[in-house]
Amino acid sequence: MTEPAAEHRWQLAPYACQRRTPLVHSNHTLTEALEILAEEAGFGGSEGRSLAFTRAASVLKALPCRLKNLEQLGPLPGLGEHSRRVIQDVLEDGVSVEVERVKLSERYQTMKLFTRIFGVGVRTADRWYQEGLRTLEDLQEHHTKLTRQQRAGLQHYDDLNTPLGRKEAETITQDMQEAVQRFLPGAMVTLAGGFRRGKQNGHDVDLLITHPEDGREVGLLSPLVSWLDSQGVILSQHSQKNSYEGPEQPRDGRVLDRFERCFCIFRLEAQGGLATGRGWKAVRVDLVVTPISQFPFALLGWTGSRHFERELRRFAGHERKMVLNSHALYDTKQVQWLGGGMGCGGGCGQQD
Ligand code: CTP
Ligand code: MN
Ligand code: MN
Ligand code: MN
Repeated sequence: MTEPAAEHRWQLAPYACQRRTPLVHSNHTLTEALEILAEEAGFGGSEGRSLAFTRAASVLKALPCRLKNLEQLGPLPGLGEHSRRVIQDVLEDGVSVEVERVKLSERYQTMKLFTRIFGVGVRTADRWYQEGLRTLEDLQEHHTKLTRQQRAGLQHYDDLNTPLGRKEAETITQDMQEAVQRFLPGAMVTLAGGFRRGKQNGHDVDLLITHPEDGREVGLLSPLVSWLDSQGVILSQHSQKNSYEGPEQPRDGRVLDRFERCFCIFRLEAQGGLATGRGWKAVRVDLVVTPISQFPFALLGWTGSRHFERELRRFAGHERKMVLNSHALYDTKQVQWLGGGMGCGGGCGQQD
């Protein structure tokens, strides 16, 4: 076999967070195939395999043009043998038999159906599948035990699985910006998540709430949510208190943040263009409250994508010996917080 000339190979940085990954790229057929396998592996609890396929898809998203053959890629980290085989199949035959089989399988289709219910994760979906449940009707007929969140998710299933437009997200952001002023003048609402990455559609609206003065945001969320509820805006909500107690070493690199938050379903009134036929639709909204001292880290953490965040944290750990999360950046060599942290009124960032 002759080696292709070096100039025909693309040079890509090893971490996804070091690569430019545009929203619109040239290898959708390939990335969709790999992401279905990633999803399927996740449904089976194989996090490692799932990550391998996600990494491979991420590499392809960073290519400047359409991939014609595998040799153009060279020996990239994050492109395993299985992924290469899938890519090869799609390049040669237009489809991967393995991917097509997954897509048609009862298991994959059922897991997809169930995990699309708000509040249902892989483990719950898997349990229902093992019990022989296959449809949303099955869940109701078998009187399956559902949490309050899952009941709401099921009730609004169609709305919550209809992509949300950017205009709707911006309207909700604006409405919330006005709403927070009632309880905390000067508070700021920022649209994060996929919309902040420039996506035109999303599955929810991720909103960060902060105030220019550290600490003033404390106690804002609960009256805000009560008021929204009294206005008929909230169809369902699940709040969590702030549990941040300062620096801690993440145990598995996947620590969730500890901000006070509320996972809601909003009732969004139609402003023309809503095709629900009843003048409103249910929309998922995440409200996250952060002190201004941790806001930059929260914004970075809540902008995503999930894979970008994972890679950024892996880069921080492996390449810089630092710990990054949605609260702060911690330098393990110098034993100090570089920002965020706690009670950062003035001497922010120092820890004994
Ligand atoms: N996130 C988080 N903690 C959570 C939920 C989400 O830190 N409990 C972060 C994730 O890292 C993710 C971002 O918030 O990058 C947005 O999450 P999500 O809304 O699930 O995904 P989006 O990228 O916004 O995609 P979509 O348009 O489908 O909503
Ligand atoms: Mn394999
Ligand atoms: Mn989102
Ligand atoms: Mn979200």
